[in-house]
Amino acid sequence: MTEHPTSPNPTAVPGQTARPNPAGVRRLAVLTSGGDAPGMNAAIRAVVRTGTQQGIEMIGVRRGFSGLHRGELSVMGARDVANIIQRGGTVLLTARSRTWRTPEGRASGAQVLRDWGVDGLIVIGGDGSFHGGHYLQEEHGIPVIGIPGTIDNDLYGTDHTIGYFTAVETALDAVDKLRDTGASHERIFVIEVMGRHAGHIALDVAVAGGAEEVFIPEDEKPVAGVVEIVKDSVAKGKRGSIIIVAEGYEGGAQGVADAIEAGTGLETRVSILGHIQRGGSPVSSDRILASRLGEAAVYALMEGRKGVMVGRGASGIIYTPLQETWEKRKDVSRDLYRCAMTLSI
Ligand code: F6P
Repeated sequence: MTEHPTSPNPTAVPGQTARPNPAGVRRLAVLTSGGDAPGMNAAIRAVVRTGTQQGIEMIGVRRGFSGLHRGELSVMGARDVANIIQRGGTVLLTARSRTWRTPEGRASGAQVLRDWGVDGLIVIGGDGSFHGGHYLQEEHGIPVIGIPGTIDNDLYGTDHTIGYFTAVETALDAVDKLRDTGASHERIFVIEVMGRHAGHIALDVAVAGGAEEVFIPEDEKPVAGVVEIVKDSVAKGKRGSIIIVAEGYEGGAQGVADAIEAGTGLETRVSILGHIQRGGSPVSSDRILASRLGEAAVYALMEGRKGVMVGRGASGIIYTPLQETWEKRKDVSRDLYRCAMTLSI
């Protein structure tokens, strides 16, 4: 990135289709915020290149909202986002900002955007980041568009969030490996996957990893039932059992493992996969989703849309008010749970 706060608005790239720009957008900023997710870089690339292609000057904000109110901005061109589509993490860096939760923090950030002549801000992140963007727009009138970037897949208004597909692959790879050692020792493995409030990763991994049981935060299911499931597995001649637990389930994996050991006396091991699920090169589904949503976010601002998240549903790109993305609940698939249980006989 080059420090260049006052460069003139470039003309649209010759030979490319210029989209209607009724909002008169000339300068846009982009930031990543909250927990990183594989595919965020692909989204940054898509935003910067779409804007550049449309003759809009693009500004990158480093360290999310923390960097915004500190003025960590710089111009980004097409070459500044070369060779990042395949990289995990975020080249813009990310943070969870306490200052941004205060009206004063948001006011200083808004002033930075005004000083830079920014016509709109694209926020790539999860629900906490969208709160930040929502209040910035409400209080200071700066148009904000959200791009869903979180491994948890817990945002209403999009079938999937950027990073989710890769996180599932990473967790599944770990489950397969743990199954090898678990079966060799005839042990029970209780594996905790990420998902603070949501069981999307856990359910996918349970089906794809052939788990005997899965616990998710959305369920009030008491842990005690796992004892019968494990005893039944042993009676059927299974050499080991895989139990998946989403981190948001009360008591977590350790609570489930304690119940199993107390109720069966069987040797049980806990494996908490943790932040490894947030890293790694994004799989193709995340890169494609990020590319589509990054492009759509720039077009949305040019069309005069604001205060919405761009998501992808069955009909293509959809727009959901930022507030609805966290106020409405995206249900987990009960079919996945049934499927996992049907197939674990
Ligand atoms: O980004 C989502 C998430 O990975 C959750 O699944 C998890 O609970 C949380 O972030 C962990 O956050 P931190 O990086 O602050 O430990």
